[in-house]
Amino acid sequence: MVIECQQLWKIYGGRNAACAQDGRTVENVIEEAERAGGHVALADINLRIETGETLVIMGLSGSGKSTLLRCLTRLVEPTTGSVSFDGTDLMKLNRSELLALRRSKMSMVFQNFALLPNRTVLGNVELPLEIQGQDAKSRRTRALDMIELVGLKSREDFFPHELSGGQQQRVGIARSLCSNPSLWLLDEPFSALDPLIRHEMQDELLRLQSSLSKTVVFVTHDFDEAARIGDRIAILRQGRLIQCGTAEDIVYSPADAYVKAFTAAVDRSRIIKAQRFIEPGAPAKMDGVLPLSATLKDVSQAFGTGASVVGFHDGDRNVVGFMRRENLGEALVQAAL
Ligand SMILES: Nc1ncnc2c1ncn2[C@@H]1O[C@H](COP(=O)(O)OP(=O)(O)O)[C@@H](O)[C@H]1O
Ligand SMILES: [Mg+2]
Repeated sequence: MVIECQQLWKIYGGRNAACAQDGRTVENVIEEAERAGGHVALADINLRIETGETLVIMGLSGSGKSTLLRCLTRLVEPTTGSVSFDGTDLMKLNRSELLALRRSKMSMVFQNFALLPNRTVLGNVELPLEIQGQDAKSRRTRALDMIELVGLKSREDFFPHELSGGQQQRVGIARSLCSNPSLWLLDEPFSALDPLIRHEMQDELLRLQSSLSKTVVFVTHDFDEAARIGDRIAILRQGRLIQCGTAEDIVYSPADAYVKAFTAAVDRSRIIKAQRFIEPGAPAKMDGVLPLSATLKDVSQAFGTGASVVGFHDGDRNVVGFMRRENLGEALVQAAL
């Protein structure tokens, strides 16, 4: 499932036609829309999300994250621009085609869980299949599988109020996976959970994603969460896409002070890879080997256990570079800049 947004705009209120660019700058269009009483929630977003990729959308509250996520399914109708789904232009679908596509290919997990209070775990999880019109037996089988997948086996008959926040969100996740969507959208799914549970749920998501390989768009305002979960991170500010790249790109070369502020509290050595500091070739002698994807933190741990030269392999067991213990300090200083 490849998703592509081109020149996507969302203006709430005001006169909608205002945002056709016609050679004007983005700033001009924003000014004009605001003068007409509109609120620009998304301005000229261009983004491509690859099959199997996990893209995280980050930004302060009000920066347009939920609006962007919802525009991807037209739950929020974009003002102009295009959204395509494996080459199908979503903007050209009529109401029933859109509903059919949403039901079969997309699903969403919400911050506040959005469970039906008068239905059991099983009743909530099987809901999407009920809406699709599947028969009771097959939807029950599938729902029970999903409940087991998220670790809630034996809780099928509980009601939402009998579960903890973390368990309720597991129900939300099971429900969203029930229809086996190709595109999985999560809007701050763990924000309502306390930090320990949150970390556990991130692990759970990573575990699920490693076997499911869906195209995932995940909204958060927490950079640590973004870095753990995302292949790439897209940063929004006031509806503008400021930067899109790997956690390492963003930590190592933030586009501006706004982006940098998100990464201020981050342990950079856990994100920046040793690869950019290594010497090429194989060393005459080495005390350990790490993958090229190792972070400076991994390397410093290897040195901490007594190694003085560490080699790096390319995944095919070829050693393609190395680092000496005495060069780590310089790398850490560089990374902290
Ligand atoms: N239905 C709406 N009508 C008017 N303004 C809205 C609506 N939904 C969101 N907004 C505004 O659009 C901006 C972006 O909102 P949102 O996408 O919810 O941001 P985020 O999810 O990043 O907090 C905010 O300023 C918000 O107040
Ligand atoms: Mg939001």
